[in-house]
Amino acid sequence: SSFKSQLENGLSKLGLPKEIIEFIVNVTGGSGDYPKIPEAKGSISAIRNEPFFIPLYELYLTYGGVFRLTFGPKSFLIVSDPSVAKHILKDNPKGYSKGILAEILDFVMGKGLIPADGEIWRVRRRAIVPALHQKFVAAMFSLFGEATDRLCKKLDAAASDGEDVEMESLFSRLTLDIIGKAVFNYDFDSLKVDTGIVEAVYTVLREAEDRSVAPIPFWEIPIWKDISPKLKKVNAALKLVNKTLDDLIAICKKLVDEEELQFHEEYMNEQDPSILHFLLASGDDVTSKQLRDDLMTLLIAGHETSAAVLTWTFYLLSQEPSVMAKLQNEVDSVLGDRFPTVEDMKKLKYTTRVINESLRLYPQPPVLIRRSLGDDVLGKYPIKRDEDIFISVWNLHRSPHHWEEADKFNPERWPLDGPNPNETNQNFSYLPFGGGPRKCIGDMFATFETVVAVAMLVRRFDFQLALGAPPVKMTTGATIHTTEGLKMTVTRRQRPPIIPNLEVSTGNVDSSLNIQEVTTVSDQKDEVSSAIS
Ligand code: HEM
Repeated sequence: SSFKSQLENGLSKLGLPKEIIEFIVNVTGGSGDYPKIPEAKGSISAIRNEPFFIPLYELYLTYGGVFRLTFGPKSFLIVSDPSVAKHILKDNPKGYSKGILAEILDFVMGKGLIPADGEIWRVRRRAIVPALHQKFVAAMFSLFGEATDRLCKKLDAAASDGEDVEMESLFSRLTLDIIGKAVFNYDFDSLKVDTGIVEAVYTVLREAEDRSVAPIPFWEIPIWKDISPKLKKVNAALKLVNKTLDDLIAICKKLVDEEELQFHEEYMNEQDPSILHFLLASGDDVTSKQLRDDLMTLLIAGHETSAAVLTWTFYLLSQEPSVMAKLQNEVDSVLGDRFPTVEDMKKLKYTTRVINESLRLYPQPPVLIRRSLGDDVLGKYPIKRDEDIFISVWNLHRSPHHWEEADKFNPERWPLDGPNPNETNQNFSYLPFGGGPRKCIGDMFATFETVVAVAMLVRRFDFQLALGAPPVKMTTGATIHTTEGLKMTVTRRQRPPIIPNLEVSTGNVDSSLNIQEVTTVSDQKDEVSSAIS
């Protein structure tokens, strides 16, 4: 089976003797005594080098919406039934913890909001959610626009030189730059420079992903954990990231102490609208490890996910030129050549549908992890406590029972005048941001971020898979990555001159956006004259 081979693979990478590997792999157990749940033991279709959620899809079609998967000493319940997913996430969320996820991520997130459970989670969720208020999200638009503009400049240079670009790593840097500013007002500037801190962040992220897919917790093996060069590097990187966070907290604390602004519901410092600034102004304890854990969690949660969404969106667009044409049409007519504002989001309807549909085909992460805290009933099956559960969002999103032409990238399946699809109006057949009390707190942020990035990029450029590029295949960590990158040929679009839209935005928008309108108009003049010449 592919799990068996993955396990063997993982163990042999550790350099364990063959006999021991065989022993570990062949030990079976923990199959449970609930005969009613279909068991998929030993029948995993054997394809190597595939991400683990692919064989789970085949098994779902065979065994149904709830089945048990046993391999080695481990046993999991795989959930692909929308009503069972709803039960776990929304109707009985207190009956479940984050289980293995919390164990795996402890080294980097500690008791941060994603792994935390119970009272700690409740208190922190209440503290952090208010930081992402409307005014904050509106203020993020200049950040989204400026960061994407830096990426455009990079692509422009590549287009001039006729060089292909690897988009996955560029998207990763784009979203790192954005989330660093948004969470703690730090400019990684990773699209331009490779600093030690950027490298450290990536070392930590890769480690978190390696641990998520490791068959056994190699980081707990005695002696090995003290001598492994890789773990040493990870620890050094963690130290640097933590030190940087501590410095940023100290700097921000000073700003908060010096400012006159009274804390209130939609509190925001115009110079530093970051989440950290909000938390410190609201009275969060600067010295706490909890604050650092939460910042680190937000950094990771808001970085890889958005990057993966952009990567797969551009892959999908490259496969469906008619969708791309329609998208470019909308963006041209709505934006002209302005930076997008919060008001544009209502008008960029098709662009939003493209993101909705990309999130359906490539959900990030592809599975949600839970552990039962007590007895419960999943559909018709009674379960006991301590069951490890994978809710396969991948299966839900591609189920032939719920979707017509489930594998087709078809943004038209969501009517433009209909509601924005979410887990509630799709009855948990579609849950790109989870659901229930543990639903993503960055859903709005991420949707706007990716809509802005897509709009600004397709307005300026056409994108094609590069000739002779490696085939785009999936591999998985916490999110779905490509195996060998997304190599694309980027060409400047030929467009008619754009009539500047001088309308000045009003309402909830940060005043710096108005300055931006002015600079954008002068950029437009350059654009127009270069388009004419
Ligand atoms: C939770 C997806 C962007 C912060 C989640 C969950 C999903 C998700 C599916 C639920 C996990 C579970 O139930 O186990 C995404 C996707 C994103 C994205 C697809 C990008 C397109 C962001 C951003 C932030 C963020 C930008 C921060 C600004 C969080 C946090 C949680 C979370 C803190 C944990 C909430 C809790 O447990 O109370 N995200 N996310 N996410 N997300 Fe996001």
